[in-house]
Order: sequence, then structure tokens, then C-alpha cells
Amino acid sequence: MGEKGTVRWGILSTANIGRAAVIPAIKESSTGHVIAVASRTDAAAKEFASANGIPRSYGSYQQLLEDEQIDAVYNPLPNSMHREWTIRAAEAGKHVLCEKPLALNAAECDEMAAAAAAAGIICMEAFMYRFHPRIDRVLQLLDQGVIGEIRALYSAFTFKITSSDNIRLDPELGGGSLMDVGCYCVNVCRTVVGGEPLEVQAYAQWTDRGVDEQMAGMLRFADGITAQFDSALTMERRECLHVAGTEGHLEVPRVFIPGTEDVTIEEFHGREEAKTHALAGLNEYTAMVEHFSDCILTGNRVRYPFSEASSNMRVIEALYRSARNGGTIEAVEPIS
Ligand SMILES: NC(=O)c1ccc[n+]([C@@H]2O[C@H](COP(=O)([O-])OP(=O)(O)OC[C@H]3O[C@@H](n4cnc5c(N)ncnc54)[C@H](OP(=O)(O)O)[C@@H]3O)[C@@H](O)[C@H]2O)c1
Repeated sequence: MGEKGTVRWGILSTANIGRAAVIPAIKESSTGHVIAVASRTDAAAKEFASANGIPRSYGSYQQLLEDEQIDAVYNPLPNSMHREWTIRAAEAGKHVLCEKPLALNAAECDEMAAAAAAAGIICMEAFMYRFHPRIDRVLQLLDQGVIGEIRALYSAFTFKITSSDNIRLDPELGGGSLMDVGCYCVNVCRTVVGGEPLEVQAYAQWTDRGVDEQMAGMLRFADGITAQFDSALTMERRECLHVAGTEGHLEVPRVFIPGTEDVTIEEFHGREEAKTHALAGLNEYTAMVEHFSDCILTGNRVRYPFSEASSNMRVIEALYRSARNGGTIEAVEPIS
């Protein structure tokens, strides 16, 4: 560690999400300092470093990993590169906050887990929405039984891609609507139900290059609880979660990226006027970085371990199997 109680970060690539959300979050956090960025080219790294107030730049990712003053690495590379560069960072002794989805499949997650354990570093998937206190409030309301027993969920995350060279449209880079945004829907439904689906079914609209630009899926949990979702790279922006129970339902608008404004949870009972639960806004990216840094500094376990990411990927893999087979019912492989 550098100065006592601080975490020195290196950023792997000039990715948009780093520039727009995670680098500002690290800077805003109480313990984080962004000290270096790496890019595939020296020129891009230098330009990004200068534009974002980052002291050091490297013209290769490996060079950044060799910087002994870096404690933690943020990995926002294309999905197909998460595994390799997280493992390389672990081998270099760096903690890794890796973008979602953690890898291309559960087997890769398990390899990353083994590398992290061997190196004694911590790694976490950057599903930042889970660090917004609103999700905890939803879980608390459900625990209190405000809607009775949960029976059905619905979640959506869609938006429209405007450029054809977007990494999300490239099958070689792990593109696709389920990989990019549907993974949030799967994650939030598993989080709310508090368990794993037994089987799934999905339909997809494929691009000529074989990427799912639209997906609709169904998850069947034990006791007949179902969760439906849709994800798309071709539709107006839409993010929601509905949780329906025997005595009412909850709606969570803009559930994944609400910004820093105050947020709500709407509670409905039949035709009665909705009850609004209001919560103060916060930057969920900063909350995620604070948690991760705190775990580095204290040795505490991260709230979402590898097994969580691996379970999410098992569901995603089963959804792809179903969608590729035209909507077959597919079992979700349990963690052995
Ligand atoms: N948590 C969130 O809110 C959130 C939001 C958006 C995206 N994400 C995740 O973050 C990751 C990056 O998404 P993004 O939208 O920020 O992507 P992006 O802007 O396209 O950035 C990806 C970066 O990867 C590097 N790269 C290395 N090999 C590449 C290749 N063959 N083609 C293209 N880029 C390559 C490039 O950096 P250099 O040229 O500098 O090497 C590029 O800037 C994805 O895993 C995505 O799922 C998360």
C-alpha cells in the first residue's frame, strides 16, 4: 500500500465507462488515487492520462501491471479479455475490480477465482447497482412481507446502439444484449429471489454476425417462482424491476443506473394508491469502489464473491443454449 490507508489504482484501457463513471468514482472515494492508465497505444494512453488528470501512462497493459506502486487494477476491457487480464493482474499481485460480466462463462470465472486465490488478491465483478442502498431496501421490504410471498418478477434493460463498431456487436469480443445488459436482469432477479433458477428458456433476435441484439428470457426458480426479462441493443432506454407477490407488488424504476438523484420504490396493492418509498440519491459507482477499497485495506471479504459471478454466468450460459436452440427448456448447471 502507498500512503497508509490509501489504494493506488491503475486503469486497463481508455474505456468509456472508466472515463465516464469509475475513474471519477475512484477519485471521489475516500481512499482511492488513480495513478496510471494503460492503452494499446502510447499516444492514446498519454492523451487519456492528460485529459483525466492521471499522472502516469503506459503503452501496454502489461507495463502497467509491472508498476510496483499500483495496488489495484480496474479492468474495463471488452468481455472476451476480462479473464486473461484479470489473471495477469492477479499474477502481478494486483487486486482487480473487473467489469461485468466477469467472464465469458462460468469456467472462466472459476479459473479467475483460482488465480486470485493463488495470488492472495481480491477480485470482484463491478455490478455497481448492488451498492445502491435501494436494493437493500427492496430486500428489506420483501423480508417484511409487504407484498406477501414473491411469485413473479420482471426486469428489463434495453438501449439503442448507434455505431456499428461498438464492442457489444462483436461476437469475438463477447458482445450481445444478454452479455451487456441482460446480465443485470438475471443478476437482480437472482438477488431478489435469493436463490438460483432451476431451468430457463429464451428467444433471441440475432445480428448477421451472430450476436443477440434482443433477448427475452424466462427463469424458473423452486416453488414455481418465475422471472421474465428482456434485454436489447436496439430499443429505447428502459430499466425496470417489478416484483409481484400474493399481496401486492413493488416497482423499481431505473433500477440499474439511477444517477445520483433521489430514488423511489413504488408499492402497489390492488387499486389502492401506490405507496412511495423514497431514498436519498448517491453515486453507486463510488459506493462500490469504497466497498472494494475497504476490503483491500481491512482484509474483509468482498460482499459478492466469485461464486456469485460464476452462478450468474451459469444462468447466462443456459439462456444462450436455449436461445440458440430456438427456445428449448435448459437446466441451469448447479455449482459443484
Ligand atoms: N458497470 C457499468 O456501468 C458499465 C457500463 C458500460 C460498460 N461496462 C463494461 O465495461 C467494459 C467496457 O465497456 P465500454 O463501453 O467502456 O467499452 P469501450 O469504450 O469500447 O472500451 C473498451 C476498451 O478496451 C480496449 N480494447 C482492447 N482491445 C480492444 C478491441 N479489440 N476492440 C475494442 N477495444 C479494445 C480499448 O482501450 P485501449 O484502446 O485504450 O487499449 C477500449 O477503449 C465492458 O465489459 C462492459 O460490459 C460496464
